[in-house]
Amino acid sequence: MVRAKTWILKKQFDGFPERSNFELKGEELSEPKNGEVLLEAVFLSVDPYMRLLSSFGMKNGDVMIGTQVAKVIQSKNPTFPIGSHVIAPCGWRTHNVCCGEGLIPIMRDWPQDVSLSLALGAIGMPGLTALYGIEEVLGLQRGETLLVNAAAGAVGSVVGQIAKIKGCKVVGSAGSDAKVAFLKELGFDQAFNYKTVGSLEEELKKASPDGYDCYFDNGKLRSPEHITKDFENMPAAFIGMLKGENFGKSIVAV
Ligand SMILES: NC(=O)c1ccc[n+]([C@@H]2O[C@H](COP(=O)([O-])OP(=O)(O)OC[C@H]3O[C@@H](n4cnc5c(N)ncnc54)[C@H](OP(=O)(O)O)[C@@H]3O)[C@@H](O)[C@H]2O)c1
Repeated sequence: MVRAKTWILKKQFDGFPERSNFELKGEELSEPKNGEVLLEAVFLSVDPYMRLLSSFGMKNGDVMIGTQVAKVIQSKNPTFPIGSHVIAPCGWRTHNVCCGEGLIPIMRDWPQDVSLSLALGAIGMPGLTALYGIEEVLGLQRGETLLVNAAAGAVGSVVGQIAKIKGCKVVGSAGSDAKVAFLKELGFDQAFNYKTVGSLEEELKKASPDGYDCYFDNGKLRSPEHITKDFENMPAAFIGMLKGENFGKSIVAV
């Protein structure tokens, strides 16, 4: 029998959460039955949508919603052999018994020198969001100039780099001077701290006086991650992300 740790939503919050809105609990898990697997969390994703869903889609006492990279440690489902990894919508839990529904297998030949945490970041949903937004929503073309908000975060940091590879000029806005420096390191053409600029309109004109047009560069995509250690720190990582402490994708490593 395995004892899982879970973080529950103790008290719904309006606006900004505090540590006291969450409670760490234990949960006894039964052995997996036929068709089921026992999962162990390796990396947990920390995302902005958690605030919205905890207000509208959850009630007090529910396990916090979320996605993780998990390892299959017991299996009675041949699709998910022991030792394989999956993306699992298990919420803020260290362990979970579930049938295979909703699990996304991670390819078995995942390169050893690439962290599996990237399946929650640049190679996962935030990376796809960045690519889809650029290609399908914006239809961004070489030579165009792009402005990115929350540019130092999971999606924004990838958006800016893809736009650079496509030959665009990229201007990023972020919430601290350290993030502005970080965006320059990633190759953004211009970056500014939206919290300290006098006039946003003037700053935007200064960043691109010619009306936001073009520059070409090329390079490798970096996938910055902001890793917090230990499952016990899930609320701290979530609150920190909402305060803007993350550079790149916010992840908790178990
Ligand atoms: N991750 C995904 O797969 C995904 C998918 C679809 C849509 N989205 C949406 O894309 C946006 C960015 O997501 P992300 O995953 O890349 O998050 P993120 O940028 O990694 O983290 C959130 C960042 O947003 C800023 N922020 C936090 N609270 C804020 C507030 N109340 N008002 C304004 N800015 C705030 C902070 O940066 P500063 O310090 O720079 O302010 C913080 O670091 C979100 O709206 C999210 O819902 C994400």
